[in-house]
Amino acid sequence: MELNEEQQQLRRRKLEEALEVKSLRRIISAYINYPDAAEDDIKRCESSFRKLSPAHKAFEPPLDMSMDVDNCEDQHLECCPDEHHHRHDGSSLDSHHSSTGMARSAKDPAVCNTENDHMPSARGTTDTDVATNAIGGQETEGQLKSVESNGNASSSSCDWLNSSLQLNVPLVDVDKVRCVIRNIVRDWGAEGQVERDQCYLPILEELERLFPKRSKESPPCCLVPGAGLGRLALDISRLGFVCQGNEFSYYMMICSSFILNHSQSVGEWTIYPWIHSNCNSISDEDQLRPVSIPDILPASVGITEGFSMCGGDFVEVYSDPGQEGIWDAVVTCFFIDTAHNIVEYIEIIWKILKDGGVWINLGPLLYHFADTYGQNEMSIELSLEDVKKVAFHYGFTLEKESTISTTYTTNARSMMQNRYFAAFWTMRKKSANKSSAAPDE
Ligand SMILES: C[S@@+](CC[C@H](N)C(=O)[O-])C[C@H]1O[C@@H](n2cnc3c(N)ncnc32)[C@H](O)[C@@H]1O
Repeated sequence: MELNEEQQQLRRRKLEEALEVKSLRRIISAYINYPDAAEDDIKRCESSFRKLSPAHKAFEPPLDMSMDVDNCEDQHLECCPDEHHHRHDGSSLDSHHSSTGMARSAKDPAVCNTENDHMPSARGTTDTDVATNAIGGQETEGQLKSVESNGNASSSSCDWLNSSLQLNVPLVDVDKVRCVIRNIVRDWGAEGQVERDQCYLPILEELERLFPKRSKESPPCCLVPGAGLGRLALDISRLGFVCQGNEFSYYMMICSSFILNHSQSVGEWTIYPWIHSNCNSISDEDQLRPVSIPDILPASVGITEGFSMCGGDFVEVYSDPGQEGIWDAVVTCFFIDTAHNIVEYIEIIWKILKDGGVWINLGPLLYHFADTYGQNEMSIELSLEDVKKVAFHYGFTLEKESTISTTYTTNARSMMQNRYFAAFWTMRKKSANKSSAAPDE
């Protein structure tokens, strides 16, 4: 029997929803299995330690390993309760660092391998509580809302999760949780202030310079695609902009929603972000050091009404004709190289800006889909000069340009510091009448 148009649409929507649930389950499973994976890592270290000859055991291990009740490598099955019997991928733990199958992810902190983690369909609003579409006018109260408010975290919605949570989580998924944890330091730890001053401060100062007279009655609108854990978007909102962060990774959205909506005090939680890497530590103390988060309380820092996080793929969400010409500013920080097709990103940024609107960009060109060996992913990898040529072709004019030296989610006390010489620019969309005057000038 032939399905009519409406039935086909319904079928497509159901399929998308099913995919979305599947992807969300996998990601929640990764978060839940994070401690188990860490224990497996510890077992690997303990196992290596036991292989040392007595003479080589002469040094003091940093922790008293005799205190570890689970210290029984060969009796693994006896030691662990049933639900811990799994190995995470059945493979050797040594394969961990290459388990992503993407040579770049382990080496490049700015690549978190978020493909396959994102919402399968475009979402104007999302499953996260702050994700209200301010520009779409559906929710504009500018308040951080509680998780219950969108009905997605009710007890009934937890049932389907409980019954289907996966215990056998691939290490590649756990790696992504670890990557998010390093991003928490960047966005929400006092330690991350150095990186925020390198990356976010120049953007914030540029926005203040470009929009000196921000009216409370009609604040300028700013979009932050690839908003990560939301700090830059929040700081822009605090400056007096109606700011929307856009993010397509559930890993990121779950975490940012938690911090933005559920923080009750500064330094409420302690994390140990560097504990997973035994490489390049100067001291054990450095590796084991705690980081308190959040460094500010999002709910009480004076956000501007209309602050929102919008879940979904930038291309899908913002190529909607309703988005055309509505943004005063688009801010991309470590984002444009996430594109399969950077020309498409530039075209969309061009279209969604108002005439005379500004595009502020800061970041490298570490194309995320480059070197995806054998996966045949589209990846357009332009040089910086060519990226600018494409922008000029669309009608942007370059107002300011410099290079900023910065790290990305780097452990400041590591012996290895990856440094980027990031491009930082302000471009303006030429207004239709060819005048390039700023909106507030
Ligand atoms: C390198 S991170 C930068 C995050 C943040 N801007 C910062 O500077 O810390 C890139 C972010 O863009 C997100 N992202 C990648 N492709 C995206 C897309 N097509 N749409 C929306 N977000 C995307 C990733 O999930 C990731 O959070």
